[in-house]
Amino acid sequence: MKKLKHLILSAGLLSMVALVAVGCGSTQTAAPKADATKTTATAAATYVGDDTCNSCHGTKVTAFHTTKHSTAFQPLSAFKLSNAPTTLTLFDGVDTNNTKPTQVDLSKIKIYGVMMNEYVMAEVPGFKNKIYRIAKLVKNGDQYTLDAAKSVDVDKDGKPDWQAADGTSCASCHAPGVPANSPSAGISCESCHGPGSNHVAAPDDKKKGTIMASPRNALPDSDTCLKCHNSDPVKDATTGAIVTNNHQGTRDWAFSKHNTSGMTNGCLTCHGPHKANANGVLIKKDNPVDICNSCHEGKIDQAKLDAIMWKNTTDPNGHVTRDHSFGAMKYQDMGDDPATKQIEIKNQTYLDIIKKALPDLAK
Ligand code: HEC
Ligand code: HEC
Ligand code: HEC
Ligand code: HEC
Ligand code: HEC
Ligand code: HEC
Repeated sequence: MKKLKHLILSAGLLSMVALVAVGCGSTQTAAPKADATKTTATAAATYVGDDTCNSCHGTKVTAFHTTKHSTAFQPLSAFKLSNAPTTLTLFDGVDTNNTKPTQVDLSKIKIYGVMMNEYVMAEVPGFKNKIYRIAKLVKNGDQYTLDAAKSVDVDKDGKPDWQAADGTSCASCHAPGVPANSPSAGISCESCHGPGSNHVAAPDDKKKGTIMASPRNALPDSDTCLKCHNSDPVKDATTGAIVTNNHQGTRDWAFSKHNTSGMTNGCLTCHGPHKANANGVLIKKDNPVDICNSCHEGKIDQAKLDAIMWKNTTDPNGHVTRDHSFGAMKYQDMGDDPATKQIEIKNQTYLDIIKKALPDLAK
């Protein structure tokens, strides 16, 4: 690695690298647990929604609308439905002892929107939890059919019922504005910057410091991106094996030298927070290889990038994500059993690293 460091220094990045290492102090050795509600510095502020930011930060808001963050949660009215029931008969999937059906008038309940073009998130009066996935959208050409979020014969009459599945746990990442009481239900400016009412109310010449300016470093035990993009391996519930699966897109980042060396700017080395590239991806250059080569000096081509950031194409839940360990957890060294859909991590060196960083997994 001496050689690489040398290249980086000779590329004139020494001062930047040193500043980052000393200045942010947020180098992570273990990925934190997801906590999408935690913010600091603006304790008394409330959420005002993206439309309010738009009046002064119009350019940023327009740029943000090019990102998948902006479209990850959309109003139900954005989808053309081929069947449009006005009422639904739902069963509470959280309070499973309750086998009584609830008749729901769709025009009367609070429908927050649709997450990932798939689940309709809403409140059902009388149900145990606040947020439910009341239905699933199934794509059919350019139209969608409203279907059961979960299909279970709850009342044991031999026919499948529509069971509303809990949406509370999903909301922390997919509809963070709902638990935060923001006018913007999905991922908004305030999902990363924290509530903005104090900032909006402050006079123009006193706005500085009234909202988190660099949210990535402002959270004491967390990283803004990692709140939602958890990178940890997990334990398979049935076999007890430690597996690489996760559906949040940044497998094994915590173990990468990009993270642990303190010599990069974390996720923001390659991803920007506000604007998608020409391919609609939240990455700083149109060709990702160009980013690598700004430090690795022509050593990385697309084939190398694809080998380093290998995709988990066998994920049992169909979540295809790229490895973000940047060589610290190579597929060929995992000890995977190719006969199973899971990718097991059996390499003792890797297990030692994981168990040191994530003691809970060692139990
Ligand atoms: C009334 C106009 C106005 C509105 C509304 C507004 N901002 Fe700002 N914002 C400003 C100005 C002006 C600055 C520059 C302050 C400076 O550099 O002195 C600023 C700065 C910022 C900064 C950098 C803060 C810092 O300390 O450097 C962030 C982050 C920000 N705004 C986010 C938001 C978000 C998110 C919203 C919506 C919740 C929002 N703003 C709404 C005018 C506004
Ligand atoms: C810790 C944050 C987090 C939680 C909790 C979470 N998700 Fe996700 N989910 C994500 C992120 C981030 C992505 C996008 C990953 C990517 O782009 O690679 C995603 C992607 C998805 C996708 C689309 C991609 C795919 O692989 O299928 C669906 C569907 C989804 N989530 C459903 C859910 C449901 C249902 C729940 C609740 C049971 C949930 N998620 C809970 C963060 C989360
Ligand atoms: C996914 C998280 C995320 C979202 C969503 C987000 N930001 Fe940011 N924002 C950041 C980060 C991280 C920085 C610090 C950038 C850096 O350190 O390079 C930042 C910096 C800023 C700054 C100050 C520096 C600059 O680039 O001008 C302003 C102003 C700002 N954001 C406004 C907004 C507005 C307005 C929105 C909504 C349209 C928004 N942000 C949405 C993460 C986010
Ligand atoms: C509030 C939760 C949340 C936060 C905070 C968050 N993300 Fe995401 N991110 C998501 C979800 C949900 C998706 C899936 C969006 C989709 O595919 O429609 C996603 C998708 C992505 C994608 C893949 C989509 C694409 O553009 O190709 C990237 C890259 C990404 N996020 C980077 C970041 C970075 C960098 C940060 C921190 C600056 C961040 N995210 C913060 C929830 C979050
Ligand atoms: C050294 C560069 C680099 C760093 C650092 C990095 N990523 Fe990525 N990331 C990429 C590249 C390259 C892709 C693939 C982009 C493409 O296919 O167009 C990607 C893809 C993704 C995706 C899409 C799903 C997937 O796995 O393909 C998400 C989500 C994501 N990154 C989030 C993050 C987050 C959050 C961080 C910080 C914890 C991070 N990345 C750090 C380069 C990086
Ligand atoms: C801002 C500069 C920078 C960028 C951009 C960058 N890297 Fe790195 N990379 C580093 C540093 C610094 C290290 C750690 C060197 C060390 O600790 O010895 C590293 C380490 C690595 C390693 C581990 C090498 C080893 O022997 O352990 C791989 C693999 C890697 N990077 C691939 C990539 C890829 C692929 C991209 C683009 C998606 C990329 N890097 C973008 C600076 C960068």
